[in-house]
Amino acid sequence: MNEFNKRMEEESKKRFGERRVVFGDGKINAEIMLIGEAPGGEEEKQGRPFVGKAGKNLDEFLEIVGLDRADLYISNVCKLRPFKLSPKTGKPVNRAPNREELDFFVPLLHEEIKIVMPKLIVTLGNFALNYVLMDKSVKIGDCHGRLMEKDGMRIFPLYHPASVIYDRAKGPVYIEDLHRLREIL
Ligand code: URA
Repeated sequence: MNEFNKRMEEESKKRFGERRVVFGDGKINAEIMLIGEAPGGEEEKQGRPFVGKAGKNLDEFLEIVGLDRADLYISNVCKLRPFKLSPKTGKPVNRAPNREELDFFVPLLHEEIKIVMPKLIVTLGNFALNYVLMDKSVKIGDCHGRLMEKDGMRIFPLYHPASVIYDRAKGPVYIEDLHRLREIL
């Protein structure tokens, strides 16, 4: 992974300048790989995916599923923090990854999956699901909590933990999905 990360960082610097690359993190040969959307401000600061508030959400998730973070490999579709400057405060705020960032990072995500070779990929949110499957027509609302298979990859799509906080109605469904994942594991 060192060589892979080094190459990704060099190429990213050429394309996007000095923005910090937040690499995937965890056990290289993990049986389970978690994939989110993109790092936020705290992840950029610490250089690790799912830390800060998102990390707290993830810890709750792992507890329900009965998993230990140390046994997983955790990454994001986009490895840079997508941000724009708030017109109100002038400070950076998160946005969705744009076309240029996706064109650059999605092929690297697929290389990363080949290196880790997990037995199961858990996608968090629509973005991760779409770009792991390479199919934007698939909607998380239609297939969350159901095991899928594509090109030998086993994929378990979940809502993004952050979206469950914004939309409380999703809470019970999300918990049900987590229990289903626990059964599969
Ligand atoms: N933090 C991450 O690393 N990824 C997400 O998708 C959200 C927060």
